[in-house]
Amino acid sequence: MPARIAPSILSADFVNLERDLGAIATADYAHVDVMDNHFVPNLTLGLPVFERIAQVSPVPIDAHLMIEDPDRWAPGFAEAGAASVTFHAEAATAPVRLARELRGRGVRAGLALRPATPIEPYLDLLPEFDMILVMTVEPGFGGQSFIEGTLPKIRRTREAVGASGQDVWIQVDGGISRATIERAADAGADVFVAGSAVYGAENVPDEIAALRDLAAAHVH
Ligand code: DX5
Ligand code: ZN
Repeated sequence: MPARIAPSILSADFVNLERDLGAIATADYAHVDVMDNHFVPNLTLGLPVFERIAQVSPVPIDAHLMIEDPDRWAPGFAEAGAASVTFHAEAATAPVRLARELRGRGVRAGLALRPATPIEPYLDLLPEFDMILVMTVEPGFGGQSFIEGTLPKIRRTREAVGASGQDVWIQVDGGISRATIERAADAGADVFVAGSAVYGAENVPDEIAALRDLAAAHVH
């Protein structure tokens, strides 16, 4: 099974984004965190900047929207060039309608869950999504430590995806590094976001390769 690596540009140098996007050309996706200072206590970037990032990125864009009212704003990120758009279950009013709208625009639709949000209410709806993002830290900031207590939820999500027979990817985001990626893969994740681990490394391509190799041995 493939282990997909999506470095988070939250840990890149925001005045050298084109350079830092170029540095992750061997990754599977560039993970772009959109924060609105309401859903999370941090602010990053909006559509105009996002659109330019999508134009210059050497790899497809995985948008992670940590914003209120994704029902209104998420389709714009599909239009702006994302390959995948993930919105939060806690913020969406009509997650299935939104996922269908995103898919209708030709992008992958992802549903994100904060650490304390259960997967169970969404299990019957798995076929509506291309990816479930199990947050492994509280969203809002890079460099936080991995919450071990999210592993059982990853495991239950993997079991449900297996039982559904659908090809739903399971992404983890937050505190992913060489120290934690194997446990996340073992629990059932197959898409790995890493910000500080990748951009804080001495050699970015080597770090991406090392993370991918560690995960690939455990992805199932
Ligand atoms: C946090 C963001 C993450 C962040 C991860 O809310 O969603 O994508 O960049 O950073 P690290 O990998 O440093 O925990
Ligand atoms: Zn993220």
